[in-house]
Amino acid sequence: MSSIEFISKNLSWLPKPLTRFMEKRMKKIPAMQKMLETENAKIMTSLEHSLKPYHDKFERISTMPSTGISRDKILADMQKMHDLESPTWQNGYVSGGIYHGDSEHIDFLNKIYGLHSQSNPLHSDLFPSATKFEAEIVSMTAHLHGKGQTTDGADIVGTITSGGTESILVAMKSYRDRAYEEKGITAPEMIMPTTAHVAFEKAAQYFKIKMVQIPVNENFTVNPADVERAITKNTIVIIGSAPSFPHGIIDPIPELSTIAFKHGIGFHTDACLGGFVVPFAEKLGYPVPTIDFRLPGVTSMSVDTHKYGYAAKGTSVVLYRTPELRHYQFYTTTEWPGGLYFSPTLAGSRPGALSAACWASLMSIGEDGYLKATKAIFETADKIKAGIKDIPELKILGNPFWVIAFGSDSLNVYEVLDQMGKKHWSLNGLHKPTSVHIALTLRHTQPGVAEKFLSDLKESVEYVKANPGQKEGLAPVYGMAASLPFRGMVSDILKKYLDVIYKV
Ligand SMILES: Cc1ncc(COP(=O)(O)O)c(C=O)c1O
Repeated sequence: MSSIEFISKNLSWLPKPLTRFMEKRMKKIPAMQKMLETENAKIMTSLEHSLKPYHDKFERISTMPSTGISRDKILADMQKMHDLESPTWQNGYVSGGIYHGDSEHIDFLNKIYGLHSQSNPLHSDLFPSATKFEAEIVSMTAHLHGKGQTTDGADIVGTITSGGTESILVAMKSYRDRAYEEKGITAPEMIMPTTAHVAFEKAAQYFKIKMVQIPVNENFTVNPADVERAITKNTIVIIGSAPSFPHGIIDPIPELSTIAFKHGIGFHTDACLGGFVVPFAEKLGYPVPTIDFRLPGVTSMSVDTHKYGYAAKGTSVVLYRTPELRHYQFYTTTEWPGGLYFSPTLAGSRPGALSAACWASLMSIGEDGYLKATKAIFETADKIKAGIKDIPELKILGNPFWVIAFGSDSLNVYEVLDQMGKKHWSLNGLHKPTSVHIALTLRHTQPGVAEKFLSDLKESVEYVKANPGQKEGLAPVYGMAASLPFRGMVSDILKKYLDVIYKV
């Protein structure tokens, strides 16, 4: 047994503060340091092998070529990489990731990208098309989420960002700055379910906001009363997911936003995953709750166009109930020698081509296209949920719509995940509790994909039942990461993982 395995198995009962203290002390012991380094190196060598499959297929480049390589050769190499990588997602083996993926749609977006590749919304004078596209994407998204249907006639506004994380970061920054400006709050707190996306934790770290996490109940949502109890004079915003990334469950947004409204604080619906699904599911008559600005307490939303909006990767929309709240997001300076400067989001220059392609995606798919897509995804979800329920060793977590997490009381579900990996499936491993999820996309609605998923899942479960306790693959790493009480060590391993990614 390695020292990391020993710690995982024997010290997980320690209370958190004691664990942190012990971890700090142990890290200072040279013999311990050496042992950890050796074990980290072992993990990293095996990870490097899987993370860098091109080491033996393509030349490794560390310095720029002294003379430029021909465009034909570059294109040929890049085409080869594309061809090696595409079948897994094209054939529907990936959870989330690629949300549309039909070649005609991709070719169309690529054409638009090519047309606008030089565009930069920072230079609105040069590229008025970019500002037109961005304003219209925001307006189309706002109208999907209640603009024109609110009881207070709210003037819902927003901006384009680079993705869900940036939408969440800038929204949290806006709440922090508003709370300071309008209420003098210097120790801001945000209340969120433990299942809210990590982007909120990133915002908490970046912007020095205290994160108050509320544990979820047996249905994988928070109890509104627990949230209300956590409110203090420093609370600036409450967060709910529609749905959450891990288990695909929609939090009780009507109840949570009502609590926020009653206490005069902000409420953010994170609809990064569901923003282009839930409104259409509602129109189709599925029993989804209201998640948007029709609820008077909802003051901001994050809605990802690059997920179920079927745009290319790199765009999302952040929406605000009022232009005043959006002003806290904007950056302006009047004193810089470079001139008057203002930008709406974290970046300075931005890829106008991505906004152009996003606009083209919304325009070409249209409401009828999104309704059709949502129906197909929900029908596939029904098939998959029924199939998982037929496997006695597995259980679905909560009552999800189309992002489906499953665990097991009798098997190590990470070993099932590994077996599915061997059958080319790329699913997501989750912890707390140990589980796996599949986020269904249009790729999974192709004929035969749901059936193949279920038959592979059955076979994987049978295999793990017959051969439990694998030592190879990712299952032991997942298991260790989930149970290791020294979270600093897990964090160190993750940082080393990122180091490997940037190794040539
Ligand atoms: C619910 C939720 N919020 C936020 C995000 C972050 O989005 P992004 O990866 O585009 O930054 C995700 C990503 O999966 C998500 O599922």
